[in-house]
Amino acid sequence: MKVQVCIIGGGPSGLLVAQLLHLRGIDTIVLEKHSREYVLARVRAGVLERGFAQLMREAQCGQRMDREGEIHDGFEIAHDGVLERVDLHKYSGGNSVIVYGQTELTRDLYEARDALKGAVIHDAEDVALFDLASDAPYVTYRHGGKTVRVDCEYVIGADGFHGVSRKSIPSDKLREYEKIFPFGWLGVLSRTKPVSPELIYVKHRRGFALCSMRSQVLSRYYIQVPLTDTPDRWSDDAFWAELKSRLPDEAANRLITGPSIEKSVAPLRSFVAEPMRYGRLFLAGDAAHIVPPTGAKGLNTAASDVYYLYHALLSHYKKRDDSGLDGYSEKA
Ligand code: FAD
Ligand code: DHB
Repeated sequence: MKVQVCIIGGGPSGLLVAQLLHLRGIDTIVLEKHSREYVLARVRAGVLERGFAQLMREAQCGQRMDREGEIHDGFEIAHDGVLERVDLHKYSGGNSVIVYGQTELTRDLYEARDALKGAVIHDAEDVALFDLASDAPYVTYRHGGKTVRVDCEYVIGADGFHGVSRKSIPSDKLREYEKIFPFGWLGVLSRTKPVSPELIYVKHRRGFALCSMRSQVLSRYYIQVPLTDTPDRWSDDAFWAELKSRLPDEAANRLITGPSIEKSVAPLRSFVAEPMRYGRLFLAGDAAHIVPPTGAKGLNTAASDVYYLYHALLSHYKKRDDSGLDGYSEKA
């Protein structure tokens, strides 16, 4: 099989760049290790900044996000038993964020991909990258017991932190910087009304907590836990009791609890790999850099990579100008 751009990873970064390139007539394939159901069941981001939302619209995938996402102009910080509001709109020169789940936006991207008949191979096993430093790279994967070879002009590694793309760069060509924090976030999703109309970030001597949401009937809460804790060690009752103990009374008294519909522990890590290019391979999103979820920045930095890479590839294909590709790593 031959395509112009082979994209490894069917998460937000891979799907978004695939969709943008496809709309401009550039031929792509997305190779995703897991099933669609698996990818859509992974609860992660909930807060989108303007950059990400803007790219979703440019990719013609923003209709449901704009209809169902909630605009938030501020958030609260709880400390020493009090709540203080930060006016995001006022202090950022008119900016706001959109509360819309990563599961939802990934579903929108898959649906858009399906509508254009864009190729997405799920359950692509043993993806391997070859001849990246040559003019004729190729990628192989196994599917249904058969090995398939994809010849391409460029490879985009959008396969997250644990993916194969970054690991395909020779170690003497890559610099990596990493800090692993000695705790994680235990997250719970519940079909309950959020404790507050806006997010609450909590500083408490028992540990950090975050009251977030996906909608006004779906709450997402996090508490900081030791890295050694697993979700099965936390009953729902224990989770709610611990969350309440970290909230100021006025919020704790309002908290509506209910059965968890998802519970998981996310480790907290800061990581940067550079350069983000090796020959004809370009890394994007969590494959190249991770920030702890505290700042809700992961998708936005991924969107910035996608933006630069998309425009760089457009200049290459439409104007024979490679300056964008050459400057990608430094810019991103
Ligand atoms: P991923 O989402 O990791 O996607 C990579 C894809 O590649 C996956 O589907 C994976 O299955 C696939 N893959 C992996 N290996 C292979 C392989 N060998 N072959 C083929 N495919 C492969 N960010 C925000 O902006 N706002 C938030 O509110 C926010 N909240 C967060 C909360 C939590 C608890 C966590 C953990 C993260 C949060 N983030 C947030 C960060 C955000 O979720 C990530 O930055 C985002 O998922 C990055 O997207 P990506 O497509 O680059 O990588
Ligand atoms: C979520 C929201 C945040 O503001 C954040 O910093 C991390 C995660 C969330 O809703 O998942």
